[in-house]
Amino acid sequence: MTEQQTWSQRFESALHPAIARFNASINFDIELLEYDLDGSVAHAKMLSKCGIISSEEKEQLIAGLEQIRQEYRQGKFHPGIESEDVHFAVERRLVEIIGDVGKKLHTARSRNDQVGTDIRLYLRDQIQQIRTQLRQFQSVILDIAENHVETLIPGYTHLQRAQPLSLAHHLLAYFQMAQRDWERLGDVYRRVNVSPLGCGALAGTTFPIDRHYTAELLHFDDIYANSLDGVSDRDFAIEFLCAASLIMVHLSRLAEEVILWSSEEFRFVTLQDSCATGSSIMPQKKNPDVPELVRGKTGRVFGHLQALLVVMKGLPLAYNKDLQEDKQGLFDAVNTVKACLEAMTILLKEGLEFCTQRLTQAVGEDFSNATDVADYLAARGVPFREAYNIVGKIVKTCITTGKLLKDLTLEEWQKFHPKFAADIYQAISPQQVVASRNSYGGTGFKQVRAALLAARAQISNQ
Ligand code: ARG
Repeated sequence: MTEQQTWSQRFESALHPAIARFNASINFDIELLEYDLDGSVAHAKMLSKCGIISSEEKEQLIAGLEQIRQEYRQGKFHPGIESEDVHFAVERRLVEIIGDVGKKLHTARSRNDQVGTDIRLYLRDQIQQIRTQLRQFQSVILDIAENHVETLIPGYTHLQRAQPLSLAHHLLAYFQMAQRDWERLGDVYRRVNVSPLGCGALAGTTFPIDRHYTAELLHFDDIYANSLDGVSDRDFAIEFLCAASLIMVHLSRLAEEVILWSSEEFRFVTLQDSCATGSSIMPQKKNPDVPELVRGKTGRVFGHLQALLVVMKGLPLAYNKDLQEDKQGLFDAVNTVKACLEAMTILLKEGLEFCTQRLTQAVGEDFSNATDVADYLAARGVPFREAYNIVGKIVKTCITTGKLLKDLTLEEWQKFHPKFAADIYQAISPQQVVASRNSYGGTGFKQVRAALLAARAQISNQ
């Protein structure tokens, strides 16, 4: 391998400098360096085990690869565009360090199965890190929820006041979303953790390799059964981007709620100074930049999913250079999800304070107990639809007279229906309205306490 010629003697002139830049991926696939080294170490061990290289040659290769690792960790490995990609960069440096024996490393291997291996090793690590972050996020949600079982918050449908909720119940909805995200990533992991190493360029190899051995060394659970599929499959990356997109959907919905809650119109939370920002011109402002950025960054992750789907849709088998386009989006999605999970976890943990007084006031000043009036009559034998219509009339009267349901006198109630008795006041108090939704999975305090226990157990068991 000379400076000008990365490829074979077939080429007579060097690449045009602009084309070399256009073709190169080294600026971004350097992120895969350590995984490339891991894959190469395993490959070298396998070549020796199968008698394709000698055991001394294997030792030399591994020593050289480990030296590159040290150089990289010490910030001393800076391959340029002339190396094209991380795989060539490693091979080039290896030959510099250990001489001609370095040229044996690529026996029975192609960059196609090599890059496929690297990207899976990378994603496997990242999935584990993101799952750990999801657990931290869930645990912070539980800490807050445990303190707010009996704090009430208006519940909405169509962003109209619907029925009051336990704040813990509201927060536990996000716990459940994160739980599905955690499980989904575990499921994706199973298909990420399959080795394409040894598929060669596309057709396998003439050497007597042992694919199971490299897979075992790299802790892959399985190997690709078809070499063409092994080098050209990116389903696992698309699945990851789907899972990442859903994590972002969930974070973005929570972000949106926090943004609403912190507005003057809601005043359900106050943002703490450590997680809020000011305005350059309006001295009174405290802005929810963190959730806004999370909401904003969500689009990037969706975009990467879409981009990779489009990259894949027209590709004939097997490897095509288009596949080099899988990396930047994937890396950016990984980094975005990690950054957003970290920021939202900090925001929940120390950046938000729920204004319990304001919340208590909010649930007492609307008609979100109207369903309970209908349920009251229905429980006393009035068919629900009839009860529903009666309560509609009551609400209408209250709106015209500027009253809330709790302001009606018993005579007024009884004018609407004789089944109303003095216990109606208790039945429509917000506390009771929440407590009585004791159906499984409902917001009743008993249910919420049980849900909290189950959630704690769920994250400590797995
Ligand atoms: N840089 C390439 C990529 O990211 C590595 C594989 C190149 N293989 C090839 N036959 N050109 O996909």
